[in-house]
Amino acid sequence: MTTPVTSLVTTPITKPLLQIIIGSTRPGRVGPSVAAWFEAHARAADTFEIEVIDLVDVALPLLDEPNQPGEQKYTHEHTKKWSATITRADAVVFVIPEYNSSINAATKNALDYLYVEWNYKPLGVVSYGGISGGLRAAQAIKQVGAALKMIVMQDTMMIPRVSSMLSEATATSGTAVPLRTLTSTPAMDRSAATLLSELLKLTLATAGLRGK
Ligand SMILES: Cc1cc2nc3c(=O)[nH]c(=O)nc-3n(C[C@H](O)[C@H](O)[C@H](O)COP(=O)(O)O)c2cc1C
Repeated sequence: MTTPVTSLVTTPITKPLLQIIIGSTRPGRVGPSVAAWFEAHARAADTFEIEVIDLVDVALPLLDEPNQPGEQKYTHEHTKKWSATITRADAVVFVIPEYNSSINAATKNALDYLYVEWNYKPLGVVSYGGISGGLRAAQAIKQVGAALKMIVMQDTMMIPRVSSMLSEATATSGTAVPLRTLTSTPAMDRSAATLLSELLKLTLATAGLRGK
């Protein structure tokens, strides 16, 4: 008798590392608030180690490496650091807005910097925007992910009319953007749970491809 997949995916010896990457970088962005909501789901599921990465902190300039990323001959410290960051991930979930019917430039730029580091990593997407829930951004990042040989998930967590689900922004001193509370629907909660469970299956099933 074969072991049921469910028991394989709920009892890994060490939990794989999931990086939740916040793609938007503009002042006043809602990306960190959306990411905090998804992070809470991921922590509650307790199936991954979690690391949240904010592209504002990564602070990559527009791609300034002279060599093809696949060669991994990096000349800048920011690229070496970004390479080391993504290397340690087992799976990634990008939390991305839709800008002009596609992904925002900072997200595409961060993806373009590397190649080998993305290979065979499951790619999950949480997209948000207006009525379309960032669907076109999700489709766009999946296309880029396929070019980077990522394991592109079919499931997408889409959040339509995101601004209507967030609490009012409160004023703070300094430049930090305060986190706003996202009040989700039951359908959104189910969608996040599905994304996480499918992501875990793909992460465990493809570990050998990543040399783990
Ligand atoms: C440059 C720009 C382009 C946008 N284009 C779209 C779009 O094509 N579709 C959409 O649903 N929302 C669009 N929006 C609205 C964003 O979805 C909304 O502002 C969201 O809060 C952006 O995410 P952020 O706050 O994390 O940057 C756009 C916003 C900006 C700033």
